Amino acid sequence: MEDSGISLRPSIYYRPINFNDLDRLEQIHRDIFPIKYESEFFERVVNGVGIVSWAAVDRSRPDGYCDELIGFVTAKFVLAKDSEIDDLIRYDSSKGEDTLIYILTLGVVETYRNHGIAMSLINEVIKYASGLSMCRGVYLHVIAHNNPAIRLYSRLMFRCVRRLNGFYLIKRQHFDAFLFVYFINGSQSPPCSPLEVAMFVVNYMKSGIKSVASKLTNKEEKGLKWLIC
Ligand SMILES: CC(C)(COP(=O)(O)OP(=O)(O)OC[C@H]1O[C@@H](n2cnc3c(N)ncnc32)[C@H](O)[C@@H]1OP(=O)(O)O)[C@@H](O)C(=O)NCCC(=O)NCCS
Repeated sequence: MEDSGISLRPSIYYRPINFNDLDRLEQIHRDIFPIKYESEFFERVVNGVGIVSWAAVDRSRPDGYCDELIGFVTAKFVLAKDSEIDDLIRYDSSKGEDTLIYILTLGVVETYRNHGIAMSLINEVIKYASGLSMCRGVYLHVIAHNNPAIRLYSRLMFRCVRRLNGFYLIKRQHFDAFLFVYFINGSQSPPCSPLEVAMFVVNYMKSGIKSVASKLTNKEEKGLKWLIC
């Protein structure tokens, strides 16, 4: 159904993922990610076992499809002290154990891209995390050449705090990752690192070049296929 195009005025609605989404969730992951997720992962998402999730559906689609997933985000809780960004978090131990939300997967089916759906999904996560007094931030990994996702997180004020060499192993090849963090509830972020400054300059230049190129060619950049959180 996703290939049949979308209505001029899609009516996007966000809700938790539920058991009826199981097959579709697996299918989209298969279609858009270069790595295979275990069925246990999908079971845990749809049953909400240790994972929080949001689905995007298009209510303007015909009956039978109006509740079908066209986008999703999945995330889990991590204790801040056990996380790899432990050193970046300002703790407030008076309130109990600090936590973080780690984004596991994010995706939007191709025909629905560039409508702000991923942005809304991530905003749902931020809104949720911000409502939890113990939650200090939202973080994720993104493969270093996933430009659409990197632009998205930068626009949403995530901070790129690290580059991790060879973090991903895909089809026997290593790929670097960036670690992005959105600090919330008073967790103090460190001053701008040289990496952040470099990332900002590169992204700024890329978006400038892209907008000039799209004006010249009237074509959208067709993104890279790797797309993992
Ligand atoms: C990365 C991904 C999730 C982005 O999803 P998306 O829904 O297209 O993202 P958004 O629509 O919020 O933003 C994409 C672009 O559309 C633009 N946009 C947002 N709303 C828009 C609107 N109403 N009209 C036109 N353009 C719009 C944004 O400004 C952004 O532009 P940019 O590419 O110049 O930065 C999607 O490409 C995807 O699923 N990729 C495969 C999986 C993946 O990479 N996941 C992330 C792993 S970390």
